[in-house]
Amino acid sequence: MLLAASRDMNESLWIATTASTRYPSLDRDLSVDVAIVGGGISGLTAAHLLKQAGLTVAVVEALRIAEGETGFTTAHLTEAIDARYHTLKKDFGLDGARMAAEASRAAIDFIERNATALGIDCGFRRLDGFLYSETGDDLDELREEADAAREAGVSASYTDDVPLPFATGGVRFAQQAEFHPRRYLLPIAESIAGNGSHIFENTRVLGVHDGEPCRVETASGVISAKAVFVAANVPVNNKLFLQTKIPAYRTYAMAMKVSSETDLRGLFWDTADPYHYTRWQSTDEGTFLIVGGKDHKTGDVEDTESHYGSLEDYIRNHFEIDTIAYRWSGQIIEPLDGLPYIGRNSISKNVYVATGFAGQGMTFGTVSGMLVADLIQGREHRWRGLFDPTRIKPIASAVDFVTENIDFPKHLVPDRLTSLDVEGHSLDDVGAGEGKILKLDGRKVAVSRDETGRVIALSPVCTHMGCDVHWNNAERSWDCPCHGSRFAPSGDVLNGPAVDPLKPAEIDEV
Ligand code: FES
Repeated sequence: MLLAASRDMNESLWIATTASTRYPSLDRDLSVDVAIVGGGISGLTAAHLLKQAGLTVAVVEALRIAEGETGFTTAHLTEAIDARYHTLKKDFGLDGARMAAEASRAAIDFIERNATALGIDCGFRRLDGFLYSETGDDLDELREEADAAREAGVSASYTDDVPLPFATGGVRFAQQAEFHPRRYLLPIAESIAGNGSHIFENTRVLGVHDGEPCRVETASGVISAKAVFVAANVPVNNKLFLQTKIPAYRTYAMAMKVSSETDLRGLFWDTADPYHYTRWQSTDEGTFLIVGGKDHKTGDVEDTESHYGSLEDYIRNHFEIDTIAYRWSGQIIEPLDGLPYIGRNSISKNVYVATGFAGQGMTFGTVSGMLVADLIQGREHRWRGLFDPTRIKPIASAVDFVTENIDFPKHLVPDRLTSLDVEGHSLDDVGAGEGKILKLDGRKVAVSRDETGRVIALSPVCTHMGCDVHWNNAERSWDCPCHGSRFAPSGDVLNGPAVDPLKPAEIDEV
């Protein structure tokens, strides 16, 4: 039986099954070798490696470490790349496809080695992954993908025997892995703070300035550093260049308790559109089936609750489950040419970025930490060119660039000049737990009402580049359809690239 579909049940399995962290906020100016913006898997991996190399680091996290997108993953560690190997081979050549596989494999090996060396009990486990078809319509394409992956050096093969009862056939990727991301990262974070290195939580970065030294500005202090790594899922320092290359999507996940005897284990990704992904996870609370999918472009859907609903329908149609124990949603940043952007920021000397991990957040997040830690130390790295954020791949990205950015002017211009999206003209039109765009005194106002009846009125204009935000009813947030910034009902930033909160709106009637 379904747990009451309360919105309060939005909670990630990873955060619910680990203790909260309590690192201090920045309260002074500071000088370190490397400042790292973002305390997710990218930033913590880089910080760990840089500290091991004898440098001092300061990790600055807007919320709590590993509670941003890293806390809202489903934590697949895999060489299976969303863009597919037959496409990568075409767009980046066989060498590029081989290197993308090599980097993914190296990241998985790194996590395994690190967990073993540091004695971290994060449930790291090797197991096979399967890219499968449920309908059987695309088995030829999957055969082609198996050949391309093998050519790229992946231990992959086509199989009619995918170990899911409803799969018709697919590609088997041998020796992929799973882990509990917070059980892995929290001990790593403990090893970072101390001896001139720091982790700061609840400290939002307001600006990153290249230079010698670089400066990272927050409301409570400035960090000077020889280099800065912006590891914040989306860069906050690259308004015009990277933002147009990294559209944001929301994805949904649910976890259900199952018998620990369950013998269906593996990582599974189907070829449906929108697609679904499945795996199991053992925790101290028991074994959970985790299923995700039903993605949509951030800010394009207001009834996001319906995406949880259709994910639950999918799960109940495919698995025998009882109660939904946890459900959560995460932000996926898609690169337009299929590979993430990792390396030195365009027009910067000492600022590095990492973004566009698509569905491989844990794997490419680790790749980015490894690569940027080397680049900051002045080491040449064979992956540098492949992931270079300034690369231009016209063949790979031309169509997607036009398609994805067509939304930007659409949301920027008409939303500001017309009232097409207005959903009411009075505060009475907004019920408890709802948010709506109202037209009040001739202006558009983003109004939400909490369960106690308190009304918050904000400007609907996104503080990144001026598009209008839309309400997200499952997560109770204001989401921007242009580049994926998200804001709490209070106006505070939940997801960048915006760094400033939505402005309060003066209204007469409360
Ligand atoms: Fe760019 Fe809103 S995220 S305009």
